[in-house]
Amino acid sequence: MDLGLKGRTALVTAASRGFGLATARLLAQEGCKVALCARGEQELAAAAAEVGAAGEEVWGGCGGRVRYRAVDVRDGAALADFAAEVERELGPIDLLLVNAGGPPAGGFDDLSPADWEAGYRLTVESAVGLCRLALPGMMARGFGRIVAVTSVAVLQPVDNLLLSNVLRPAVQGLVKSLSDHAAPRGVTVNAVAPGFHATSAVERLITAKIAATGCSREEVIAGWTGSIPAGRLGEAEELAALIVFLMSARAGYITGQCVVADGGWVRGAF
Ligand SMILES: NC(=O)c1ccc[n+]([C@@H]2O[C@H](COP(=O)([O-])OP(=O)(O)OC[C@H]3O[C@@H](n4cnc5c(N)ncnc54)[C@H](OP(=O)(O)O)[C@@H]3O)[C@@H](O)[C@H]2O)c1
Repeated sequence: MDLGLKGRTALVTAASRGFGLATARLLAQEGCKVALCARGEQELAAAAAEVGAAGEEVWGGCGGRVRYRAVDVRDGAALADFAAEVERELGPIDLLLVNAGGPPAGGFDDLSPADWEAGYRLTVESAVGLCRLALPGMMARGFGRIVAVTSVAVLQPVDNLLLSNVLRPAVQGLVKSLSDHAAPRGVTVNAVAPGFHATSAVERLITAKIAATGCSREEVIAGWTGSIPAGRLGEAEELAALIVFLMSARAGYITGQCVVADGGWVRGAF
């Protein structure tokens, strides 16, 4: 199936590893020009080289088709500056992956007012800021795809991830509201809600759980997979494939959705 993505320009945030990197790599394989950001420059540079190599088969050389810059998504001015460079060097942003590191773990008694504010800035404010940068141009040009990475926490609270349980639904509210606004202009806005996937984010949860419970790594993972009908963690590439489909020309009639990829973990029927 031709996804109709060749030549599109994509901005993928939080892209030096995990879901962001897997998505950037797949977009490059589909012939997109890809811009990546994350905070750590060295890891990001390696990721950008990998993404460029992934696009080589389509383009016969990656020169000029990948851009990267160390940017913290909480820094609105730096993001705006990078987005302007991307539009100058690669072309108008057609595809946007709204992604960031997850807010820290913790329950109600663990979180200070400063934690709540920082969580809001990381998860909600950065998503609003990214949409403000990309959506007007997409609507003016009559095509665009925005996909936000949220979490199954949108549908079912996850133990000890209170910030995520509270703040991710706000991003879903943004997605649904913007989708109404954007649909008449050929722009779709969706969210993907991953369950437990084998990325460094989950590695950090495993380490924290080992420290808190004294359980072994295998016991911690088995504690999760026991409640996942698929019986395993997901792979970043599996979520990336879903994201890239939602960004494709083929997915033009899908908007305002929260698409869950969790191996069956969420217990609700809808
Ligand atoms: N993996 C899962 O099972 C799972 C499930 C549900 C939801 N999620 C959520 O999905 C998102 C991505 O998760 P992942 O598993 O791909 O995580 P990951 O493997 O830890 O990768 C996170 C990426 O985000 C970047 N990043 C972190 N904070 C950033 C910031 N402030 N500004 C710019 N870049 C930043 C990291 O690079 P730097 O550190 O260098 O900035 C890295 O490239 C997170 O919000 C996570 O909570 C993950």
